[in-house]
Amino acid sequence: MANPTQQDKAAPVDDGAIQKALAEYEKNQRTYLEELKKLVRIPSVSFEGFDKQQVRKSGEATCDLLRRIGLDNVQLLEMPGAHPYAYGEWLKAPGRPTLLLYAHHDVQPAGDEEKWATKPFEPVEKDGRLWGRGAADDKAGILVHVAAIQSWLKSAGSLPVNVKIIIEGEEEAGSGSLGDFLRKHRKMLQADAIVLTDTGNFETGLPSITTALRGIVVVNVEVKALKQPVHSGMWGGPVPDAAMALSKILSRLVNDDGSIAIPGIYDKVKPLSDSERKSIKALPSDEKLFRKQAGMLEGVDLLGGRHPWEMNWRQPSIAVNAIQASSRKDARNIIVDSAWARIGIRTVPDMDPKDVERRLTEALQKDPPWGVKVEVHKEGAGSWWYTSSDAPAFKAAIKALREGYGTEPVTIGCGGSIPFVDPFSKELGGAPALLIGVEDPYTNAHSENESLHLGDFVKATKSAIRLYAELVRVGGST
Ligand code: BES
Ligand code: MN
Ligand code: MN
Repeated sequence: MANPTQQDKAAPVDDGAIQKALAEYEKNQRTYLEELKKLVRIPSVSFEGFDKQQVRKSGEATCDLLRRIGLDNVQLLEMPGAHPYAYGEWLKAPGRPTLLLYAHHDVQPAGDEEKWATKPFEPVEKDGRLWGRGAADDKAGILVHVAAIQSWLKSAGSLPVNVKIIIEGEEEAGSGSLGDFLRKHRKMLQADAIVLTDTGNFETGLPSITTALRGIVVVNVEVKALKQPVHSGMWGGPVPDAAMALSKILSRLVNDDGSIAIPGIYDKVKPLSDSERKSIKALPSDEKLFRKQAGMLEGVDLLGGRHPWEMNWRQPSIAVNAIQASSRKDARNIIVDSAWARIGIRTVPDMDPKDVERRLTEALQKDPPWGVKVEVHKEGAGSWWYTSSDAPAFKAAIKALREGYGTEPVTIGCGGSIPFVDPFSKELGGAPALLIGVEDPYTNAHSENESLHLGDFVKATKSAIRLYAELVRVGGST
């Protein structure tokens, strides 16, 4: 048991205290990996149609972990119809900054189990990586926070900063209740800075701070032409094919060069500044490496005519995530009655998500081929986010990462989305948000064979331990 009088004051931030916290972590490294495995064993898929109880179970397991490391006021935060968030806090460092730490405990579906070399929810250590769904995205993020907090509490009896930790349960499903959640808990979640562990490093071993996220607008489109499927010989010719109509509609959405063919869609895209362009060029990457990391087949074109990372971070993109018209299993000689697709547009600064959704819907419904019926339903949206890295908190983060990884950090963008970031940084009056994650380009997040690089897991945790102290050094206002 820690000494209670000691527990009520903040940990010192001298190098000796940092070294003690790091040494404490080294002693317990293995335990955190085992705790991570326990979380990976819970199939906490937040998508519709999967067992909601499993997401609750992982929320509860996360709360249990937060309690065991000595956090206070640990609880599941519930919203009607939403998966639970796990919450905990340690607020015994008066006068010191308060950090809002974020990760998520829900995961994407496993995908095709046949394509997994190991079982998705049975974590396996192999080749210096931990394999399993959620091992990297984002259960490792939970353990980075947990290990950093506990290393301080065990070595110093206290933390150098105040922390509020929030582990979301519906990030992968689009964070649909985020607005309500924020309104309900805004008082409790006030903080001076946000630290998110849910992004990636540009390369294995290369610590990276993410300063831009894309947003996302997702719709479902359904094309209907018949009351039921009919024999393709008996009726084919005069009767329009819904699958063909949908294909025509989808093909209108892009130009031959792959750019989005929806009028006005690029109007508000903020161009890169000279220094941003320079910083992308300076990153250790080229087209060949990009193609390899993305898993592109030989002979397949790279699109856009700009640096691939500019295309991915700062240009919108469109994807048809899934198409259905009958099914491969039921394929037979019919004209299908209907066809369906899910379409996503990734948005960038300064696009307006409402405007994007309206333009996409209009483009899908304009001049339906052969008079087929076209219905469009919005599925979800999340905002893009963009920050300058001038705030002192970024200097603290750069120092912590440099020392934690033993190499100079880089600043990057991200083609993915985290709906939490924009509304929360706004709510906190533009408080700095530090996006520092453990996924590397070989993580295969959302795909089969997801894995976490164990060396980077350790380095990320050491950096987090240092970060708390560095944030105190740059001042209470961060
Ligand atoms: N951790 C990712 C975000 C991310 C993507 C970080 C790529 C680094 C590189 C997050 O879990 C995610 O997948 N977000 C979803 C959000 C969506 C469901 C609203 C995404 O980007 O598809
Ligand atoms: Mn994630
Ligand atoms: Mn994800």
